[in-house]
Amino acid sequence: MRIFITGGSGLLGSKIAEIALEMGFEVYSGYHSHHPSLGEPVKIGLANPESIIKAIRSVKPEVIIHTAALTDVDRCERERELAYKVNVEGTQAVAEVASELNTFLVYISTDYVFDGTRGMYKEDDETDPVNYYGYTKLLGEKYCNDFCIARACVIYGAKPASGKVNFALWLINKLENGEEVNIVTDQYITPTLNTNLAEMALEVAEKKLRDVFHLAGATRVSRFEFAQEIARVFDLDESLIIPSKMGEINWIAKRPRDSSLDTSKAAKYLDEEPYELKKALKVLKKEIEEAR
Ligand SMILES: NC(=O)c1ccc[n+]([C@@H]2O[C@H](COP(=O)([O-])OP(=O)(O)OC[C@H]3O[C@@H](n4cnc5c(N)ncnc54)[C@H](OP(=O)(O)O)[C@@H]3O)[C@@H](O)[C@H]2O)c1
Repeated sequence: MRIFITGGSGLLGSKIAEIALEMGFEVYSGYHSHHPSLGEPVKIGLANPESIIKAIRSVKPEVIIHTAALTDVDRCERERELAYKVNVEGTQAVAEVASELNTFLVYISTDYVFDGTRGMYKEDDETDPVNYYGYTKLLGEKYCNDFCIARACVIYGAKPASGKVNFALWLINKLENGEEVNIVTDQYITPTLNTNLAEMALEVAEKKLRDVFHLAGATRVSRFEFAQEIARVFDLDESLIIPSKMGEINWIAKRPRDSSLDTSKAAKYLDEEPYELKKALKVLKKEIEEAR
């Protein structure tokens, strides 16, 4: 299978590229400013739809997994025009070229399409984003209704990507250095290991499932509980994790309080099931040890 990953340099896209190559797929890794380490690199700019259309037309992939996005939630709030261009118009271009080429598309969306007042959201629950990032990702979904929309939640993994460390790596690094960290107790999530998400996204792509799925971790936890569980699995000092509240943090964009996702539909339809947190962290630990 020839596959085009739009965000091949990112946390999720780089893992999809790794697994797809192991599966024997022909992999094209789209990137913007960080050269991808795996797959055939293809420079694209989502804010410039012509560049993406040209790149995808020249590859003629059987499947596109559209992971690229402006993912910095506060930056999206500050730079709304750019966020709209990248996340909405860029996604529109990807979806249009997918239709034109009869290519199956998996659009990676987010838990932030929900307002977070209730949690454990199912695929057909009402969406109502509380920040501009969530709003742009939701508008992106509207262009992908003929394909697969896969919503994830707080992605983490064993390696830095796209010039950034993810929450789990950041926390492990802080605790290893004996530094205290303030982590909120009143924000709930279903954290998602990139490896598990990549496997599920590839399965959806291979089976060409035209549907909406919540492809996230299976365990709902507060961010504080997530941090504690990481500390336990990695044998780090839990007492360095200081409880705090969402109201104490100076975020620019508002965050949903409970954007946990119900993953029972994915568990029912996919062979690769959403991991429970304990299993995911065991896999993460093994991957980090292998990477060191
Ligand atoms: N991370 C999370 O916690 C989370 C949670 C829920 C949903 N999601 C969704 O999951 C997807 C993958 O997230 P991620 O964490 O893997 O993101 P990431 O690590 O931030 O990677 C973003 C990717 O998008 C590319 N990109 C950014 N701006 C671009 C532009 N203007 N033109 C072309 N490419 C551009 C980046 O390329 P360069 O690095 O080369 O610039 C990178 O490959 C995103 O769609 C995100 O909305 C993420």
